[in-house]
Amino acid sequence: MKILIATDKPFAAGAVSSIRKVIEDAGFQCVLLEKYTEKSQLLNAVTDANAIIIRSDIIDAEVLNAAKNLKIVVRAGAGYDNVDLNAATANDVCVMNTPGQNSNAVAELALGLMVYAMRNFFDGSSGSELSGKKLGIHAYGNVGRNVARIAKGFGMEVYAYDPYCPVEVMEQDDVKHLSTVEELYSGCQFVSLHIPATAETKNSINYDLLGKMPEKALLVNTARKEVINEPELVKLMEERPDFKYVTDIMPSNHEEMLAKFEKRYYSTPKKIGAQTSEANNNAGIAAAKQIVDFFRTGNQKFRVNK
Ligand code: 3PG
Repeated sequence: MKILIATDKPFAAGAVSSIRKVIEDAGFQCVLLEKYTEKSQLLNAVTDANAIIIRSDIIDAEVLNAAKNLKIVVRAGAGYDNVDLNAATANDVCVMNTPGQNSNAVAELALGLMVYAMRNFFDGSSGSELSGKKLGIHAYGNVGRNVARIAKGFGMEVYAYDPYCPVEVMEQDDVKHLSTVEELYSGCQFVSLHIPATAETKNSINYDLLGKMPEKALLVNTARKEVINEPELVKLMEERPDFKYVTDIMPSNHEEMLAKFEKRYYSTPKKIGAQTSEANNNAGIAAAKQIVDFFRTGNQKFRVNK
């Protein structure tokens, strides 16, 4: 049984050793493809793989068709918008994610980006504090929940909107539940995005919604760039000199954003939310264990395709 770890953005070396150990202790073979630059390298590597562990690596129909022996793909992380689920189902391939395993890392970065923006990107000028400010968490999943926990430590007033999350979960965390997305944006100076990229959410963070945010608004995106309507964000920021945007996913219009909003915009050069040794270990080992369990017992608990 050949298990391929295919990561354009590599896991920490220690995490790779731990993942390899789980795979080899189960009697399987572990193959590593890191930092590949051409799709052809991935296509070659998958030819005889029975399972693949990936991160944000694109697993499309071409990759799935090239992987003749493939039975399972595990996305070591939360979002699986990089995998063609229909093509996987058509090829009888099970797709799983590892929910929650990297959520603390992403949440810590969201708060770090907030501090960075509110201290004027460390330019030495007088900034402002997070304490006492209203934070709106858009989607209360594993990351949103960790953001709430940490934000409370900063003394922020925390609100959340998530039509898929039971109100009791927010109440249990002492987070104020809002029943419409408009209320979240109109009531909170800070909004942190934690929605997945789906047909429903793509381009949904638009001019109308962002225009509702109060004075000195800050939008923090550690989710996906596709959820932002980029041209409308530009229009809004042109009209609102008080509006700041910080993101861990470089927008398609990064150069334009930099040129126009140098003092109000920041993007990490490469997505680093989940790039900690802890998150790499948690998500990578979980992925390896899920694969071993899948082959040994047929367990499909974290399956995300039909
Ligand atoms: C996720 O969906 O788990 C995060 O976006 C992390 O993605 P990464 O593994 O590519 O860093």
